[in-house]
Amino acid sequence: MKNILVTGAAGFIGSAFARYMVAQYPHYKIVIYDKLTYAGNLDNLLPISDEANYHFERGDIADRAAVQRVMQTHDIDTVVNFAAESHVDRSILAPDAFIHTDVVGTYILLDEALKHGVERFLQVSTDEVYGDIDEGLSLEDDTFAPNSPYSASKAGAEHMVRAYHVTHGLNTVVTRGSNTYGPYQYPEKLLPLFITEAMDDKPLPLYGDGMQVRDWLYVEDHVTGIDVALHKGEAGQAYNVAGENQQHNIDVVRQMLALLGKPDSLIKHVPDREGHDRRYAMNCDKLRSLGWQRQFTFETGLEATVRWYQQNEWWWRKIKSGEYLEYYKQQYEARLAAAEE
Ligand code: NAD
Ligand code: DAU
Repeated sequence: MKNILVTGAAGFIGSAFARYMVAQYPHYKIVIYDKLTYAGNLDNLLPISDEANYHFERGDIADRAAVQRVMQTHDIDTVVNFAAESHVDRSILAPDAFIHTDVVGTYILLDEALKHGVERFLQVSTDEVYGDIDEGLSLEDDTFAPNSPYSASKAGAEHMVRAYHVTHGLNTVVTRGSNTYGPYQYPEKLLPLFITEAMDDKPLPLYGDGMQVRDWLYVEDHVTGIDVALHKGEAGQAYNVAGENQQHNIDVVRQMLALLGKPDSLIKHVPDREGHDRRYAMNCDKLRSLGWQRQFTFETGLEATVRWYQQNEWWWRKIKSGEYLEYYKQQYEARLAAAEE
């Protein structure tokens, strides 16, 4: 690996991966390729923007000519695909962009990677492809049962990755991460939305009874999991990247409020997300067997996250305007009006 194309790296996890890779592997050229949608933010890349091994190119992964150009210009030998529409609620309101980027965009990247002779293609995927599981832990060979337009689009992308490996022999690896949290996460997802709203004493719209279970993974642990799979994963294989930290949403929110010193009375139970998966949980022994180990407990990760949002209002306050407020109104106005105490 010398010249790595990292798509979607102006977003939350991709930018953490880029910051890590630039520092960890100074001899690699890290080329970021990002469309800069509402979720893409060059502020996330400021800490590395002056580094010699960092390059940024703006573009759409579904734009074949632009993908070709960036692969040729930078002599790309490795692709790590983070680029996606990533928010479940938005996929319920407007699924088109999810099909465009997650399905068609991944196909175009794979096709151009094959033509260009790329030696390794890592697809960043999600535990949501397994769907809702009542009990136990999802294993890499379990059947897919995606339930939202988002998870269906990610499952579609994964099937195409598999097909390019089996049919064309492209050297692919897939990682399936669990619910990731940490600094620089766009304030539409549960934790950054609720932290920033609570800081302003605003109501926190918890869906349904708040007893849904998610497996929380600190972003820096997710990033090292992808690094291990990239360097050591077997071609054609998928690896779960789990937090092994399953918690009810309401408990996560209460812990966050305690760290902020804010009252639980900010929590409002609002009408549930349509098709809301009740529980995700994965086994990650396969990735562990390659040498991966998490460094963060939920306590240390949550504290670091809360303090980061407290210390970086410059980062999130400017996001909460324009398109963001339109989305917030569409998603929450009626729900909050119907809230139960
Ligand atoms: P994000 O929404 O913060 O960032 C997505 C990035 O992709 C943005 O920078 C955006 O500009 C870019 N992008 C969108 N469409 C593009 C296109 N057509 N071409 C090029 N760039 C485009 O997302 P995230 O939370 O950082 O998630 C990154 C990846 O990890 C996604 O593939 C997601 O499915 C996966 N994932 C996320 C989580 C999580 O909890 N956030 C967990 C598991 C897996
Ligand atoms: O599991 C991995 C997935 O985690 C990733 O693939 C997705 O990209 C990422 O967005 C995340 O999906 P979720 O839907 O689980 O994350 P979200 O932060 O939207 O919601 C977490 C839980 O909190 C979920 O059960 C819904 C609930 N929730 C969320 C929001 C935004 C609320 O109760 N109220 C809210 O306002």
